[in-house]
Amino acid sequence: MARTMSGIQPTGNLHLGNYLGALVNFVELQRQYESFFCVVDLHALTQRPDPALLRRNVREVAIGMLASGVDPERATLFVQSDVPQHAELGWVLTCLTPLGDLNRMTQFKDKSAQQPENINAGLFTYPILQTADIALYRAEVVPVGDDQDQHLELARETLRRFNFVYGDTFPEPKTVRSKAPRVIGLDGEAKMSKSKGNEIGLFETADETLQKLRGAKTDPARLRKSDLGHPEVCNIFALHGFFTGDQQREEIAAGCRSAQLGCVDCKKMLAQNLELVKGPIRERAAALREAPGKLDEILAAGAEKARTAAAATMELVRERTGLRHR
Ligand code: TYM
Repeated sequence: MARTMSGIQPTGNLHLGNYLGALVNFVELQRQYESFFCVVDLHALTQRPDPALLRRNVREVAIGMLASGVDPERATLFVQSDVPQHAELGWVLTCLTPLGDLNRMTQFKDKSAQQPENINAGLFTYPILQTADIALYRAEVVPVGDDQDQHLELARETLRRFNFVYGDTFPEPKTVRSKAPRVIGLDGEAKMSKSKGNEIGLFETADETLQKLRGAKTDPARLRKSDLGHPEVCNIFALHGFFTGDQQREEIAAGCRSAQLGCVDCKKMLAQNLELVKGPIRERAAALREAPGKLDEILAAGAEKARTAAAATMELVRERTGLRHR
């Protein structure tokens, strides 16, 4: 069975961008692929998180994956640092990656601007570790949002180089996009992200979400309810696209264009429909938080399976690269 692999950083609570851009596809792909889904705590170290907070976030992201429908019976769910081969293969691939390729990465520039006091080498080599994550499981498809395009392109180039230098070893991983590869935040401008503070959290209560939606940007040309609206340029309407049925969406679009429906009511409808998805996720997450032993078991079993797969790949890598000297 072909394999899929993806990771999420434990840098804060999961949001709708993670859910629509990645998690929805994890749940879909786990039915067709041998799946490896990972909480990438080594990547998060590039932001030098408080250790207690990192520990909490690792568990919360794992809980979020499970609550969203990742099924540990089907998929291998694990924490990156539980599988030492990620760092090991990362080093091998570091030695195959030209500095020039890393220099082109826009995320390095963005992250450096976000944390100018801590521009560490890990931030720079971050995409190599990501390539190792994928390669370690010899994954063929990688479900991610479009902010990962450049990293995935680099991964393909690096693995092509490995195959050229050492012989055919790794498949070239294809990017799999969901219907929402780029969810825009509540500011109506930037990609929804933890660092921008423009997110709707997956675990937020209905009230918290409604509060946030109240302040969210809509059609900039619609200042009063009596102004005719343009749903096609409104981010709230775009979000309805993922949570609202066709009929209600048509009614909303017509009401907005004719100024019969105001933004406040449109937002309330979105909040209600969102709650139909988020409510059950929140409940499953709460149940998992109450059973920490169960989460430990799931992550330990996942780590064991991931280590077995990783060890097999590293055998091959050691053999091909000459690292096995006996
Ligand atoms: P991270 O933790 O920033 O995000 C996790 C996943 O969520 C997607 N995503 C979005 N999709 C649509 N709209 C948005 N606004 C949005 N925000 C986030 C991301 O594209 C990602 O799929 N470098 C990766 C983690 C990683 C990884 C890997 C991914 C490490 N190793 C190996 C795939 C394979 C990252 O920082 O994702």
